[in-house]
Amino acid sequence: MKLTAEETRVAVDTTRDILSGPNDSRGNLIPVLQQVQKKLGYVPPVAMQEVAAHFNIPAVDVYGVITFYNQFRLTPPGKNQIKICMGTACHMRGANIIQEAWERRLKIKVGETTEDREFSLERVACVGCCTMAPVVVNNEEVNGKITPTRVDGLLFSYELDKKNAAAEGGEDNGQ
Ligand code: FES
Repeated sequence: MKLTAEETRVAVDTTRDILSGPNDSRGNLIPVLQQVQKKLGYVPPVAMQEVAAHFNIPAVDVYGVITFYNQFRLTPPGKNQIKICMGTACHMRGANIIQEAWERRLKIKVGETTEDREFSLERVACVGCCTMAPVVVNNEEVNGKITPTRVDGLLFSYELDKKNAAAEGGEDNGQ
């Protein structure tokens, strides 16, 4: 996913700012990456390069650490962050099938964001609504008893909301 010039600038500035703290030992690699992720919501390649140069290690090593831990995102989160619960109850009730359904519909994998930045997909641990398993959280909204058909329904209602918002925006502009 291509970042805008502004996103790149923010990523570089933010990472340099974090690295300007007392972070010289290589043991600080993961805490630094966690701070970048916390501030930006993801760790883009430009941030990895900054971090690699700072610790004097190959960028591929930083990439290796990021992809080893699934707490890190490589792409900016989408406007709609779809979190698929992978806790035991949801897993037992087909969370993997739900994950596949989202991946097929959105044409992305877990950890990725759609090209239009509308959706991103991630897996999370139990969100505390096990009686509603399988569960998907969209931004802060919990949706239970999800089936592949309900995935279609949720996407349809997003489309509808988007169209309505665009129509309202158009009306406002016309006034
Ligand atoms: S396991 Fe999914 S809500 Fe608890």
